[in-house]
Amino acid sequence: MPAITFIHPDGKSDRIETSGGESAMQAATRHGIDGILAECGGNAMCATCHVYVDESWFARLPAVTDDEDALLDGAAAERLPNSRLSCQINVTPELDGLVLHLPDRQV
Ligand code: FES
Repeated sequence: MPAITFIHPDGKSDRIETSGGESAMQAATRHGIDGILAECGGNAMCATCHVYVDESWFARLPAVTDDEDALLDGAAAERLPNSRLSCQINVTPELDGLVLHLPDRQV
């Protein structure tokens, strides 16, 4: 199964294995990754699953939808060009090794 590495603001990292068909947010919450709140449960309504996609991976993700784009404007931490909502990243086999950086806050 594809693995994802989450890098915390202090530089620590957690590498987790995902299950088929889940989002990066679902994988993170299932593994208890600090820094992903996911208050809306993945319904693209809260922006508390904000992540910064590692530059080496950003271009390989599907484009941001209009809904995700609007929500990212309301994220608690600064929005950067590589900001995404982790609930909108479906972890496909092609994303094995994906690296996501966690913002310093979600609320
Ligand atoms: S979990 Fe709420 S927008 Fe991603």
